[in-house]
Amino acid sequence: MAVSGSSERIVVRPGGPLAGRVRISGAKNSVLKIMAATCLAEGTYVLRRVPAITDVECMSDLLASMGMTVTRTAPDELTIVHPPNIVPEAPYELVERMRASIVVLGPLLARYGRARVALPGGDDFGPRPIDMHLRGLEELGAQFESSHGYIEATADQLVGTTIVLEFPSVGATENALMASVLATGTTVIENAAREPEISDLASFLNRMGADVKGAGSPTITIEGVGELAPVSHDVIPDRIEAATFLAALGIAGGEVLIDGARADHMEMFVQKSADMGIQIVATQDGLLATASQRLQAVDVSTLPYPGLATDYKPFFVAMLTTATGVGIVTENIFTGRFRYIDELVRMGADIRTEGHHAVVRGQQRLSGAPVRAHDIRAGAALVVAALGAEGETVVSDAEHIDRGYELFVEKLAGLGADIRRA
Ligand code: UD1
Repeated sequence: MAVSGSSERIVVRPGGPLAGRVRISGAKNSVLKIMAATCLAEGTYVLRRVPAITDVECMSDLLASMGMTVTRTAPDELTIVHPPNIVPEAPYELVERMRASIVVLGPLLARYGRARVALPGGDDFGPRPIDMHLRGLEELGAQFESSHGYIEATADQLVGTTIVLEFPSVGATENALMASVLATGTTVIENAAREPEISDLASFLNRMGADVKGAGSPTITIEGVGELAPVSHDVIPDRIEAATFLAALGIAGGEVLIDGARADHMEMFVQKSADMGIQIVATQDGLLATASQRLQAVDVSTLPYPGLATDYKPFFVAMLTTATGVGIVTENIFTGRFRYIDELVRMGADIRTEGHHAVVRGQQRLSGAPVRAHDIRAGAALVVAALGAEGETVVSDAEHIDRGYELFVEKLAGLGADIRRA
């Protein structure tokens, strides 16, 4: 993670078209939640296709701080041992490093009847409230007190109920799902998030002995069970990482096999990229993508899955900066998620923001400049934009990128990009 005063830097120079094959790692947004789910039962878990990224290290540190043992037993494999009597607490230092830590609340409550979790702060996208997480758990019978920056949660026994989410929040769905698997009776989550990572979590829970139906649809039904047992699991591929390489290809041109990417997890991204002029064919091994001409502008709007993920947005903005025509990008999930646009403007992009819209007027070429990564996806999008810029771009604070991308620089260099760490 970032140490004050030090900054990781990635240097990118324009190169030719990209070529070859890039292997997609396991999904960050899946593995973090599955690691949290190991709080639900004692024993030994083996997780495969676990990316070596700092967010996984952070979740490992969190589980270890409770008394669990987390070991990387192979390059992409994590073995987690949950012994008896862990301490159901998530300290501030770790929650502050990674907001997704809040998803330990549901499983800890379900398994231990109590949990003490630091309240997460905001981040670069603006405030990210957890009211829906708490409300869902409250409806299952949990009680909360908040003091000194911590939530103290208790529940003698969670009891199944119907939870209607006001918005299909990914995190609130996951917390409610992980809490209800050990509740008595039936829980129904209405207006549930439908992301592929929710389905991956549900299939992990079902293999542990839970009874979860309907994950991937807006209604998830959970029959509570008395006990769960540890299992092994292969994490799904990271659709956002796959989208990142597709955007890199769109900007640099060329032909690349995005090995392991699943078209059925990213239909809207594939459709919009095709509208921009990237040809994508689903093969047995992944997505074979070709970009042979300058991209064309499209309008995009972020929405809950199966709509376009908010995480894809910086990649569309990056592609639009040098496409022909004008594209309007609308953010409907996190209103403040536009900071990286100032960095793209420093590279010569013509972008105007108005409320939650950005109007991007395509330029022939961007010009390399020193820029700063503000978060994982924004940082990756700056690197991707730099592939097509004239001259050298130096992306500082690149440790943000390492939170969510395994071997990002190496993978791009493997496709022929002129990229290195400073
Ligand atoms: C979100 C994205 C997810 C992405 C992740 C990481 C959506 C729907 N979710 O998941 O795809 O991978 O960020 O960048 O695109 N909210 C509340 N109260 C709550 C919880 C959420 O008001 O208790 C609001 C948030 O402020 C936000 C929206 O609901 O406007 C979506 O939040 P949520 O899906 O929970 O966010 P993440 O789980 O972080």
